[in-house]
Amino acid sequence: MERTLVLLKPDSIQRGLAGEVISRLERRGLKFVAMKLMKVSDELANRHYGEHAGKPFFDGLVKFITSSPIVAMVVEGESAVEVVRNTMGTTNPIQAGPGTIRGDLGLTIGMNLIHGSDSPESAKKEIDTFFKPEEIVDYTRNIDAWIIEA
Ligand code: RTP
Ligand code: MG
Repeated sequence: MERTLVLLKPDSIQRGLAGEVISRLERRGLKFVAMKLMKVSDELANRHYGEHAGKPFFDGLVKFITSSPIVAMVVEGESAVEVVRNTMGTTNPIQAGPGTIRGDLGLTIGMNLIHGSDSPESAKKEIDTFFKPEEIVDYTRNIDAWIIEA
């Protein structure tokens, strides 16, 4: 089963929207296999967003993600990377469709509530960056028989 890294960004936590965002992912049928509240250090932010180093928005992005706690999660499910990205909506909430997390809850690109890995390859790297193997919990859910076709 595919896994992806999800971050509830500082605006989600400060606005009291963590439950709402988590609930949307749960209702979609996705399963959490790891979750923690944490402060992102400068070093971790630079590593996580390294692909954007040098871009005009990079310094602001690092400042934002380190400004206040986040919730980091590993989410598992069929095509989890794509399903999470579609549930999040496009990067800029102005263009994000209604019914998506960013489209329903966000207004500006710098505070777009949630991060989801953009490919299975980035997901593997990002999960390793944020979680130790022993922090990821394997378990089964009986309800999956009613979510995933055999
Ligand atoms: P994320 O990595 O946070 O899940 O977001 P994403 O894949 O949808 O977007 P990405 O291109 O990876 O950009 C990372 C974050 O940088 C901020 N950004 N600002 N001002 C701008 O043009 C701009 N472009 C990107 C956004 O906050 C985006 O989530
Ligand atoms: Mg990205």
